[in-house]
Amino acid sequence: MKTNFSIVPKLLKKDPALARRIVSAFAAQQKSLLVDRVLHPATTNELSLIYFRLTPLCNLRCVMCGQRGDKGVLKGAFAANESKKIVPLEDYKRLVDQIKHKKPVVYLWGGEPFLYPDLFPLVDYMMENGLTVSVNTNGTFLEKYAKEIVERKWHALFVSLDGFEETNDRIRGEGSYRRVIDGFAAINREKERQGSHYPYMGVVSTVNNLNYKDLYRLAEATREFKLAWHIYNLGTYTNDAIIAEHREFMKRELDTDIACLPGYATGYNEGINGQELYDILTRIHAMDTDHPIITVPALKPEKIELYYGKLDELVRKRCSVPWSQANVDYNGDVHFCADYNDYPLGNIREKPFFEIYNGERAQRFRLALKNAKDGIFPGCIRCYQNMLCGQRVKGF
Ligand SMILES: C[S@@+](CC[C@H](N)C(=O)[O-])C[C@H]1O[C@@H](n2cnc3c(N)ncnc32)[C@H](O)[C@@H]1O
Ligand code: SF4
Ligand code: SF4
Repeated sequence: MKTNFSIVPKLLKKDPALARRIVSAFAAQQKSLLVDRVLHPATTNELSLIYFRLTPLCNLRCVMCGQRGDKGVLKGAFAANESKKIVPLEDYKRLVDQIKHKKPVVYLWGGEPFLYPDLFPLVDYMMENGLTVSVNTNGTFLEKYAKEIVERKWHALFVSLDGFEETNDRIRGEGSYRRVIDGFAAINREKERQGSHYPYMGVVSTVNNLNYKDLYRLAEATREFKLAWHIYNLGTYTNDAIIAEHREFMKRELDTDIACLPGYATGYNEGINGQELYDILTRIHAMDTDHPIITVPALKPEKIELYYGKLDELVRKRCSVPWSQANVDYNGDVHFCADYNDYPLGNIREKPFFEIYNGERAQRFRLALKNAKDGIFPGCIRCYQNMLCGQRVKGF
């Protein structure tokens, strides 16, 4: 299975300027790991990737989603109430002014980022200031906004699609497949009409027990959409025992109550046949497509069964995220962990970003993480950020 870096050589040929930006963000991440984390572990000089969870709102309710799924922790009246706290455009602009010299890659997500009211002016401002901007979306608004997206030359779209029509709609809601497919077609039409190769557009599929048998059919169906990549995210799952251990650990070490991890105890990992999934992924990898197929995390075939069947089996260790990444939440709170935002470091509406990023709470978190067994906390074991950036455990 290929890792996430297999995308770079193709991009280098097609778009050297964008590839250089990605490589330099990757170099900053490596430097933070080899220099900052070693020489002065409490602080860092690098910022390679910054996530913005722009809104708690979403128009879908995908079953496995830690925010809005069966066990989601950001739904209904709570999410509606939280949405009153969203950061206004002016505050984000101030933040961009503070971080732009580091030239981080920006990843906008949510909820559904298209529900942030000032999404277009925000991306405009980021791009005017030299940032590389990618947007992770459920794709249901692409048709409506295709013209504006292409005109503005957004760099990248990560579009979620979890199966061929029937399977996808069972997971992500009735009619969602068709809306995404119509969105791809609209973006491609606009790219052709405007003679632009932006945005690069790829699919992200979260593997679960409802869709894994259908992934080949999805890969075949999406061949005609001029994708730049297809990422198979093996998914974030947990169970009650891991949650209990994590809760106890975070209280003891960081005086923090946890709320997010239980959203991932969905059971959609159960019953996945590792060999069968490996065979399906191998057939997909062997497909004659123009775009790279990427599995996160890339695992040895015999280990896939463990990934789903034994959720406390370590596959990646030594989380490097806090030394070069941060997530800014819809209310302005900064966290290192995008999915488990239980430990706020400070708020961008109250303090300059770098005072927060290297502040007392951030330092405490980094030291606790560096000193933790295997360089992760108990609940981190299937964290997506660590699957992307963590160190491969020997044998996996
Ligand atoms: C939470 S969504 C937010 C952005 C947007 N609403 C979307 O669906 O693309 C971010 C990504 O997380 C994925 N996701 C949802 N549940 C997941 C899980 N349990 N494990 C890993 N990824 C998951 C989604 O499919 C999507 O690609
Ligand atoms: S569209 Fe994204 S945020 Fe909304 S429920 Fe689905 S995965 Fe979650
Ligand atoms: S592995 Fe743990 S510390 Fe690192 S980003 Fe994920 S949840 Fe946060």
